[in-house]
Amino acid sequence: MISREKPDVPGHGQDANRTLPAGRRKGEAVVPVITVDGPSGSGKGTVSRCLADKLGWHFLDSGALYRLLACAALRERITLDDEAGLAALAGRIQGAFLQSSSGQERVLLDGEEVTLTLRTEACGNRASKLAALPRVRDALLDWQRRYRKPPGLIADGRDMGTVVFPDAVLKIFLTADPEERAQRRYNQLKSLGKNVNLGDILEEVKQRDRRDRMRVIAPLAPAEDAVIIDNSDLDIDGTLRVVLDRARRIV
Ligand code: C5P
Repeated sequence: MISREKPDVPGHGQDANRTLPAGRRKGEAVVPVITVDGPSGSGKGTVSRCLADKLGWHFLDSGALYRLLACAALRERITLDDEAGLAALAGRIQGAFLQSSSGQERVLLDGEEVTLTLRTEACGNRASKLAALPRVRDALLDWQRRYRKPPGLIADGRDMGTVVFPDAVLKIFLTADPEERAQRRYNQLKSLGKNVNLGDILEEVKQRDRRDRMRVIAPLAPAEDAVIIDNSDLDIDGTLRVVLDRARRIV
């Protein structure tokens, strides 16, 4: 069961449960969350999706929300220096994450197809820039927490275990050397027929890492209680085995 629709009532500043653990309403049973954080190219997206499928839990790709916002900002010509405008935009966009019968994922922004645009480096870089703005992060908080629904949630991102779901039952931090992550991205783009340069990709990976790790708010970092897995020498199947083994110990 993979649920990627935008849950009802996006908005912000409306969460009456701020004093309760993230996403939990008074009297409700705790819905378990497993967080998978890490830098780009660590394989966390693939691993998280597989984990959600295996456990039959919902799935949140938080990076896609930042990318959607980047895409919408470009469309509405809201620049990065307009923090209030970007935060307001986050409260009104509608994202739909659909899956075709063949398993292909499609993403709509206010009804418009943006699947391919969302995956471009330009969109990822822009997303990483607006992700450094505190009001933008705050505006996306409730939207992310509304994905927490029974029987459980796998949340993929940068600050899932530290900020969004600090009470997660298991926190995984996936990482790999920048060189290895750049090589993976290079292979992926090559297989799509793109003309790319490994050196350029490595530079972009390092730049994005720096921006994500150095930002003042919710920087990319493992939670204190996270299990850190360096998968530089592991393929996706190997990584999934390690993560599944951890998950099975607690659910
Ligand atoms: O994971 P993905 O590459 O799609 O994320 C795009 C950008 O969004 C990241 O580089 C990061 O700066 C930002 N992001 C974030 N916090 C998250 C998820 C993504 O800051 N939880």
